Amino acid sequence: MFVVVGVTGGIAAYKTVHLVRALVTNGHEVHVVPTADALRFVGTTTWEAVSRNPVTTSVHDDVAQVRHVALGTSADLVVIAPATANTLARMAAGIADDLLGVTLLATTAPVVVAPAMHTAMWEHAATQANIATLRARGVHIVGPADGPLTGGDSGPGRMVEPDEIVAAALQVAAGVVAGGVVRSTDTDASDRADLDGVRLAVSTGGTREPIDPVRYLGNRSSGRQGAALALAAAERGAEVALVAAHVDDGVLDAAVNHPRITLVRAGSAAELETAMTDAAATADVVAMVAAVADYRVASPSAEKLRKEDGIPRLDLVENPDILAGLVARRRAGQTIVGFAAETASSDEELLERGRRKRARKGVDLLAVNAVGEGIGFESADNRVLLLGADDALVADVAGAKREVADAVWDAVVALRAGT
Ligand code: C5P
Repeated sequence: MFVVVGVTGGIAAYKTVHLVRALVTNGHEVHVVPTADALRFVGTTTWEAVSRNPVTTSVHDDVAQVRHVALGTSADLVVIAPATANTLARMAAGIADDLLGVTLLATTAPVVVAPAMHTAMWEHAATQANIATLRARGVHIVGPADGPLTGGDSGPGRMVEPDEIVAAALQVAAGVVAGGVVRSTDTDASDRADLDGVRLAVSTGGTREPIDPVRYLGNRSSGRQGAALALAAAERGAEVALVAAHVDDGVLDAAVNHPRITLVRAGSAAELETAMTDAAATADVVAMVAAVADYRVASPSAEKLRKEDGIPRLDLVENPDILAGLVARRRAGQTIVGFAAETASSDEELLERGRRKRARKGVDLLAVNAVGEGIGFESADNRVLLLGADDALVADVAGAKREVADAVWDAVVALRAGT
């Protein structure tokens, strides 16, 4: 990914060196755009060394290449860390008298901002109004965190740690989070530690059933909802084994960077079954989010099938229902969540299908997923009806897959607490 990292004039700029290094280590092409003030804290040499790219602050450099516009239009992601109160005000007003300001106006990429300032400045009505303006425009605000500040005082205003900013930014770029809040000091689920120490096994993506060495039967699952569930849970304190079948590019970037997520790859339903059975053997909660192919080719060809050999006949056999197997081998106290993608002409029909499926699968919770135009598969947004024991409708959530993920974990936490 082409990532522009804007650095503005705060002491936390030294931590952004680590953030840039983490992005570069993950294989991203990083261009740092410091403001003039930021260079008082960390100089050009350091930014060039860690980003491995030239650094300029002026709109008048490389004019022939229209650099000021090129950076913004090339960016897949823009991260501003730290963002001072002054920067937030300038962004809200659209001021573009330096390279960072111009880049921000020229880009259509997602923008992730990590504010850092003293508590009084953060809480000032002007700053809060600017934050509200930026959120309304779809800018993602990460933090600030609550903790010791440079003046020896303490409170909200600390820049969120670089690894967390990277994880949040990659999540935004992967489309797991819609515009608005990623993590804030006020109302965020990720501040909760209600899954602390809970061991989770989560499957995601779509299985690929081989036809021959180069062809497969697959499905359109992007893996986003499972990745969002894994990340949300890890941020709430869980230890997550994430078993991923085929997923879209970039979807796992944020998850693989989280220290509490272990990634296991699986190709076919058979591989996914083995990996999930292993993970479930020590898990407190199991969530089967993967789209598992119902059928596989009975005997995949060891050789590539050739046109000269005529139209192939594919004999299909049924795959095991992995979820049913996990329910049958359930450990004492284990909570099992299933997902079901359904098309239905009305909510009543959706609920009816969901209720029948929950009973058939024997799961504690079934997330019934309405799939259709622009919702469900391959999209960042989702709508899910959560059915609990006794077929009660526990929640009806529509929103970014991250919001759906938090609602699922809320229901799991409530279920495990017996509430
Ligand atoms: O029956 P349906 O495929 O709609 O059920 C969906 C749920 O069952 C999902 O949780 C999915 O991961 C799981 N599943 C499975 N093994 C299959 C098919 C579906 O575990 N062969």
